[in-house]
Amino acid sequence: MPRILILANQTASSPELSSAIREIIKKDAATEFVLLVPATPVEDLLDWQDGDNQAVAKRTAQTAKEHLEEVGANVIRTEVGDPSPVKAIEDELQRHEQKYDGIVISTLPLQRSRWVALDQPRRIERRFKLPVTHVVGHSVTMTREELINGLNEDLNLELETLLRGVYHAAAGRGMLGHELRELLKKELPSELDHAMFIADKIVALGGAVRIRPAVPAELAASRDLLQENIAGERKIISNYAKRIDQAAEFGDKGLVIRLEDMLASETDHLEQLERLGR
Ligand SMILES: [Fe+2]
Ligand SMILES: [Fe+2]
Repeated sequence: MPRILILANQTASSPELSSAIREIIKKDAATEFVLLVPATPVEDLLDWQDGDNQAVAKRTAQTAKEHLEEVGANVIRTEVGDPSPVKAIEDELQRHEQKYDGIVISTLPLQRSRWVALDQPRRIERRFKLPVTHVVGHSVTMTREELINGLNEDLNLELETLLRGVYHAAAGRGMLGHELRELLKKELPSELDHAMFIADKIVALGGAVRIRPAVPAELAASRDLLQENIAGERKIISNYAKRIDQAAEFGDKGLVIRLEDMLASETDHLEQLERLGR
């Protein structure tokens, strides 16, 4: 009977992998599957998970096995392999002298997948001389809920920028304080636009808007005010970079574009603030 090796980790329980496996079973119901999950370093995973690499991979394998069995796959074994997908397959083929008829590799979409970036599916096909099917799946743990939580965090950062801006524009002293005030006055309307857009988006996604901004620190020296603004812009830039990935994963292209615009605007802000500091 045919035997297929499935290599998957973050997409091991994705609907895309399930339907690819269903297609294989449709052709030959006797097909046996071995599920191989590389022990990807936890810090490289999209979603934070409790435990070390091995434990997380083991858990992923177990959940995915149950998932695949639900669609009718005969999963005869699961294995946790080397973090490198190529090495994991090599070890598997050497350790168990089972003959495989093909390999199914399941990865995240191009933008988010290290495996695809390294052209792993094609390399694996050439190296092991087995037909490779590449399935692009979505991480099932990336939910709407997480996107909404992230957007709420961004919203509060924008509100903090507004609060800070009002305070700093009034509190700044001397030449630097004056320059900072002029810059903040120019930028604050765009921050308000950002905040309103994000709040609307949270509601459109079916989420609840949670307004919990931190109160700006009480500072006197204009240098310190400037540094606070620089730190704030850096933080929101890194948030938007993350959010763009999440929105892409979630499949909301419109949101990706809006977030990219906002990221560009925050980058301008950061550059102008940094120029003041020189
Ligand atoms: Fe902003
Ligand atoms: Fe900004």
